[in-house]
Amino acid sequence: MAVVAVVTLCVCQRKTPPVEQVSVAQSRPLDAAQEPLALVPAARCGECHGNMEKEWRSSAHAQSDASPIYRAMRTASGGKHCDRCHAPLRALAVGDPVAAEGVTCDVCHTIASVQVDRADGTGFLPHPEDNLRYGPLCDTTPHYFHRMGCSLLHRESAFCAACHNWSIRTPGGTVLSILPEYTEWRDSESAMSSFECPVCHMPGVRTEAAVGSRERSRVANHSFVLRGTLLGRALSGQVQIKPEGGKLRISLMLTNSGAGHAVPTGLPERKLQVGVETLDAAGRVLSQEEHSYGRVMVDAADREVPFYAAVKEQKDTRIRAGETRKDSFLIDVPKSGQLRVYVRWRPISAALASQLQVVPPRDEPMLSASVALPLLFRRNGESVTLKLQP
Ligand code: HEC
Ligand code: HEC
Ligand code: HEC
Ligand code: HEC
Ligand code: HEC
Repeated sequence: MAVVAVVTLCVCQRKTPPVEQVSVAQSRPLDAAQEPLALVPAARCGECHGNMEKEWRSSAHAQSDASPIYRAMRTASGGKHCDRCHAPLRALAVGDPVAAEGVTCDVCHTIASVQVDRADGTGFLPHPEDNLRYGPLCDTTPHYFHRMGCSLLHRESAFCAACHNWSIRTPGGTVLSILPEYTEWRDSESAMSSFECPVCHMPGVRTEAAVGSRERSRVANHSFVLRGTLLGRALSGQVQIKPEGGKLRISLMLTNSGAGHAVPTGLPERKLQVGVETLDAAGRVLSQEEHSYGRVMVDAADREVPFYAAVKEQKDTRIRAGETRKDSFLIDVPKSGQLRVYVRWRPISAALASQLQVVPPRDEPMLSASVALPLLFRRNGESVTLKLQP
């Protein structure tokens, strides 16, 4: 797909009534003599955009300055440059409490252009001091509360790349990719990556975009649905279970058929846990064997460390967009109970969480398949094939 390095404000067809011609300078420096800026909290926008506010509050974006793992890593790393993407308004209005809303409405909707090739959080500048709110609608009527900035950039992956595209240079001079989702999407040949990020991450429904406005056919969901919904859609696959020399051979085929980038993507700390467990009749786990896919960032002594302390990427075993991965386990079996094969998403490993002194968040289920064990023995050497289900 053709993606230009510098995406400027779109020149889309302006229907009636005409919207003002807007021209915003790239990375305009803040004028020190300017009046102190009062930021608008999301709650104020919610007076007219109530659904969006509710959805946004449930999203990771609303937690970007507050999530416990983030606070712990911010402290441990010294916090250099973190605010650029996690609380971009802080530098523009020092001391204003609204900045702690993190990636809030007035971050995304006051961005007019994104310089994609600056993969460090400096490729965009919010302009909350302007009365313009940029969004993809180009047929709106200017409103007393804010003017409208028709911006097709907001429908493009390049917009998300403002923050979802980050590389750092280690003290040794190596460039390490920290957040690869945009470049993975851009460089992937998979059919799934022909969709722009908002198509998958901000699905639309027919409703009004503001209280009292006319219905529109596609108003974007702002909860950036991931847990439960998208996770279950990312992968598809099946598992074959076959007796082998008194044990059970479990062979998996997993395809990344639903994501426009590798799974997992985002932070290097994210992992995919693929495992097999046996359970007794009461559902207690009797045995468990697990493989972990992901990136491993290490320090000079080859120990796994959080990304900011890493000097290199030791391995990357994630499943690329469109890729099918085979894996297998050979396990002992009890005579009864249940066998479960699962795929789970792990936000951060227990070892790293304990290094950071945070409680590791729970694994999120993606896919699984279960079978009662006696069934396998009755089958006398034949294999059983099961579909992995969300
Ligand atoms: C101004 C910076 C910024 C922009 C622009 C931005 N994001 Fe984010 N996004 C973040 C940050 C920071 C987080 C991490 C929040 C947290 O978990 O603490 C995040 C989290 C997410 C998550 C959740 C990841 C998870 O593990 O739960 C998704 C999905 C996401 N963003 C998608 C998008 C998409 C799609 C776009 C474009 C429409 C976009 N973002 C635009 C900064 C941004
Ligand atoms: C008093 C009501 C009101 C408030 C408060 C309000 N808006 Fe709006 N907004 C509207 C109306 C009306 C529209 C046009 C809806 C339509 O035509 O479907 C709109 C449209 C938008 C659009 C789409 C612009 C485009 O061209 O695509 C964005 C983005 C937006 N608002 C963001 C915000 C943000 C961010 C805030 C808080 C800083 C906010 N709004 C506060 C009434 C309001
Ligand atoms: C991470 C960036 C991000 C944040 C935060 C965000 N938006 Fe949006 N918003 C978008 C994008 C991108 C679109 C366009 C999506 C599309 O049409 O595919 C959009 C669309 C809109 C629209 C136009 C209607 C539509 O669906 O096209 C309005 C109005 C709006 N947002 C209001 C808000 C309000 C109010 C908040 C805060 C509660 C908010 N947004 C927070 C990125 C964001
Ligand atoms: C074809 C649909 C699709 C497209 C296009 C897509 N994504 Fe995703 N994304 C998914 C699915 C499904 C998941 C859940 C699986 C996962 O976590 O890897 C996901 C997960 C994520 C996550 C959380 C990753 C994690 O594991 O923590 C982020 C962040 C994200 N996407 C950002 C983006 C950005 C930025 C773009 C555009 C450059 C994009 N996505 C394009 C479907 C898509
Ligand atoms: C270039 C933009 C950018 C910069 C700079 C940045 N981040 Fe992030 N960060 C993101 C995005 C986008 C995500 C969402 C990806 C995901 O969830 O996997 C994220 C997610 C995170 C998360 C996961 C939060 C959670 O609740 O799971 C942590 C922790 C984090 N970042 C720490 C940091 C620290 C510490 C710094 C500063 C040293 C930093 N980030 C600098 C963009 C950035």
